[in-house]
Amino acid sequence: MTEVGGETVDKRDIAILRAMEGLSRAFEWVPEDKLLERLPMDYAELAARLEKLDNLGVIEYRYIDMYQTYAAKMKEKAYDTLALWDMKKHDVYERLGTVIGEGKEATILNAKDPDDEFIVIKLHRYHAPEFRRIKKTLAYAAVKVRGEELQVEDHRLDVPRAKAQVEMKVLQIFSSKGFPVPDPRSINRHAVAMDMIEGNAPGIPAPLLAKVKVKNPEDALETILEDYKEMVLEGHYVHGDLSEHNILVTPDGELYYVDWPQAVPVEHPSAPKLCYRDIKNIIEHFKRKYRINVPDPKEVYNEIADDLQSLMEEKKEEYEEHKEAAEKTLERFEESVERVEGKREKREAGRRKVEESGVS
Ligand SMILES: Nc1ncnc2c1ncn2[C@@H]1O[C@H](COP(=O)(O)OP(=O)(O)OP(=O)(O)O)[C@@H](O)[C@H]1O
Ligand SMILES: [Mg+2]
Repeated sequence: MTEVGGETVDKRDIAILRAMEGLSRAFEWVPEDKLLERLPMDYAELAARLEKLDNLGVIEYRYIDMYQTYAAKMKEKAYDTLALWDMKKHDVYERLGTVIGEGKEATILNAKDPDDEFIVIKLHRYHAPEFRRIKKTLAYAAVKVRGEELQVEDHRLDVPRAKAQVEMKVLQIFSSKGFPVPDPRSINRHAVAMDMIEGNAPGIPAPLLAKVKVKNPEDALETILEDYKEMVLEGHYVHGDLSEHNILVTPDGELYYVDWPQAVPVEHPSAPKLCYRDIKNIIEHFKRKYRINVPDPKEVYNEIADDLQSLMEEKKEEYEEHKEAAEKTLERFEESVERVEGKREKREAGRRKVEESGVS
């Protein structure tokens, strides 16, 4: 059983959610008779369980005029529940802890694995402003990671999954090369499990660079810039969102780099610009916070610019190979945004009209 909002979801609830997941690409609202066909339970049990899942905020369950029947729709929490259930089933974790970070782009949970080690599970989210910022490079990175164009039905599901796949891939490559990133454990749907970088007590995450005052800022900046250059030139990915908010500092002063869903393969045309911006962000942080002499970001970037250009040349064919599939994937993302969110706008306009006319 798994805890959701204080109540428990059991195997038979999960069977319902799995059936809904299978049908949800065909039906926005899944009619209950479609579920009954697929599930070994009678109507009374199904209805009671759907009611319970609705009360838990996992699904919505109500009468749909158009179908003239009750139907159910999965909410974000339904996918979280399935991903966490499957991770538990595969022994990725033994006990789930608490939410240690809740933002618009991801929810971070802590958990304990079967060996009593703390891990972190990151549930990726769709967030429109972030999507608009990263959509082109995400489409490319995801296509490269998957080796094929993405079938995008619903961007609210497919963008978080693409982000999880890219983050998982970067963590795998980087940790296998010995770069300071959390070791990845597992991926399921939009969820990525990884080692927890611990702070000064077991289970407490290491603080962000933004939250600490490092003892020797000159050394820390130099380490970050050296690590960064190595990650770009030998790891072949540009972070794309490097800042004091994505670097963890352990009690003995080690630095770890987190948050890789927007990472961009070096051969993508946006890589140089993003690389320069990452370098600039980090240098400016040290200048602002510690008032130390810092190198000119342009000069630091120039130290790798030629090697980056050569890498891009070398990987030109690879870029060409994925380019078309990435463009199609981007189109599919955008079609979905228009279809799904256009619909929502229409519904909201309809609701406003009803409210204005005084009918409630
Ligand atoms: N492996 C880890 N070990 C310890 N703490 C972590 C780990 N991964 C993430 N965190 C903590 O969770 C926070 C958010 O994680 P991350 O930066 O990966 O996601 P995000 O997309 O920035 O999420 P949000 O939108 O919530 O800010 C980090 O700033 C860090 O404090
Ligand atoms: Mg972050």
